[in-house]
Amino acid sequence: MSVFITGTAGFIGFHTAKVLLARGERVIGLDDLNDYYDVELKNARLAELEADASFTFYHADIANREDVGGIIDAHGEIEGIVHLAAQAGVRYSLENPYTYLHTNIDGQVTLLEACRKLKQLKHIVYASSSSVYGSSTDMPFSVDQKLERPMSVYAASKISCEMMAHCYAHLYGMPLSGLRFFTVYGPWGRPDMAAMIFIRKILAGDAIDVFNNGEMKRDFTYIDDIVAGVVNCLDRPPISDGTEPPSNIYNLGNNRAEQLMDFVHIIEKELGAAASINYLPMQPGDVPETLANIDKSRSELGFEPRVSIEEGLPKLVAWYREYYGS
Ligand SMILES: NC(=O)c1ccc[n+]([C@@H]2O[C@H](COP(=O)([O-])OP(=O)(O)OC[C@H]3O[C@@H](n4cnc5c(N)ncnc54)[C@H](O)[C@@H]3O)[C@@H](O)[C@H]2O)c1
Repeated sequence: MSVFITGTAGFIGFHTAKVLLARGERVIGLDDLNDYYDVELKNARLAELEADASFTFYHADIANREDVGGIIDAHGEIEGIVHLAAQAGVRYSLENPYTYLHTNIDGQVTLLEACRKLKQLKHIVYASSSSVYGSSTDMPFSVDQKLERPMSVYAASKISCEMMAHCYAHLYGMPLSGLRFFTVYGPWGRPDMAAMIFIRKILAGDAIDVFNNGEMKRDFTYIDDIVAGVVNCLDRPPISDGTEPPSNIYNLGNNRAEQLMDFVHIIEKELGAAASINYLPMQPGDVPETLANIDKSRSELGFEPRVSIEEGLPKLVAWYREYYGS
């Protein structure tokens, strides 16, 4: 099968492409390689993928209609799509709201429009986020909750993506599944996220910022568990029962709300160094706790997170040391 993965030079896109290539699929990748974070890291991920002859890469903007239309025209054989290209990050969306409209909303509509031409398309899986639950205190977050309280432009853009997906499933019968990822970490991770920031700063002897005075809980999810969920989902397109469109939403989280300070202590132990900590108030747009209810993902996707932070963080630290030589 040919699978089109957008955001292939990104953290989750890279790992998803690796797993699909390893099981013998052809992967067509797209990424604009923007400099929101270290472009060298994106290129290094890409270089790993390009070592496989079944991988084809397009350097393009997901919101560019001509380019995306051209890729779809050139690859009428595409059967699966994993749409991960996005402007991520809650905090960055406070200063750069238009990037989120461009990439996340315009980009998703551009892709969905182009995909209408695909005759063999079986399923589009796209990334949503735990941030869609916003200030909800109804824990654990269930996919049956109403999404009424987004706290950032990023969260609102992801809710819009889910709405657009439902609309295209309804109008054109396109099978679409949205995956709400919960704080993903692991090797080849994102340098703008807590785990990588903490490692980098502790190694450099710099203080780390800890918000809400450390009173934060996160459902940290290891990358291999996320990718297993993405691939299981891709293999299980929703089927319309005649009344509802073929559109689905799942939570992919570890189903454990970890104290942020426990997360920090494991990193300190792995690095053999104590962190100096700036305790700060809550940041605008941020939420104090996330926890996924994964009942539906378990029963319909066979999703079963296996990696705890005690097991996953040492793997991240080991990769970090090897990759950055520190
Ligand atoms: N990592 C997490 O914890 C997490 C949590 C919730 C949701 N998500 C979502 O999962 C998806 C993948 O996230 P990630 O952690 O791999 O992020 P990432 O930033 O590493 O990957 C996204 C990729 O998309 C590319 N991209 C950005 N704008 C683009 C554009 N206009 N055109 C083409 N490519 C573009 C980037 O260059 C990047 O390589 C995103 O949709 C993100 O919002 C991630």
